[in-house]
Amino acid sequence: MVTSDREDWDRRHRAVGIGSAQPPDALRGRLDLVPGTGRALDVACGRGAVAVWLAGRGLDVVAVDVSPAGLAAGAELATDLAPPGRIRWVEADLDDGFPTDDGSYDVVVCQRFRAPALYPALAAAVAPGGLLVVTVLSEVGDAGGRFRAAPGELVAAFAGFEVLAHHEADGEAHLLARRP
Ligand SMILES: C[S@@+](CC[C@H](N)C(=O)[O-])C[C@H]1O[C@@H](n2cnc3c(N)ncnc32)[C@H](O)[C@@H]1O
Repeated sequence: MVTSDREDWDRRHRAVGIGSAQPPDALRGRLDLVPGTGRALDVACGRGAVAVWLAGRGLDVVAVDVSPAGLAAGAELATDLAPPGRIRWVEADLDDGFPTDDGSYDVVVCQRFRAPALYPALAAAVAPGGLLVVTVLSEVGDAGGRFRAAPGELVAAFAGFEVLAHHEADGEAHLLARRP
């Protein structure tokens, strides 16, 4: 990522400030699927809303983003809502590759960051029996554009997974899937 794009994300995160802990959108109504222990990875975590929610649930979380401002907002949110040390905040540019080759995460979340080149690494990060939660912008129900997933993109990308829920509408695609 070029520096100006990272600075742009920093500006956006600073403008919004500290948020609130939130489960991933694709999990609404299915929170029972999330274990209360284990490890979670939040890819492109932004201001940490999901990472902090996962940590509050009981998971040890690795939260990755390119934006120092987003990570700082997440760390501040975590001070009140997550036990100390439960979240490791990692500054990394995912354009340079995936920051972990560790396939031992019980939950892997990637919400509103679409990078098809990273789909294989996302899949590989999920432990056997683990949960994958992905939300991307979609062409379905929208005018289209190069940042949006084509119809069926997520199901095709994670073909080896058991699909628990798949929804495409109103410009978003959600996939909830379990690694066999
Ligand atoms: C739309 S936000 C989504 C944040 C969060 N997942 C959520 O759902 O609220 C996209 C995030 O991706 C991060 N991002 C964009 N490009 C990135 C890259 N190349 N490497 C790491 N993070 C990146 C941005 O900093 C931003 O926090």
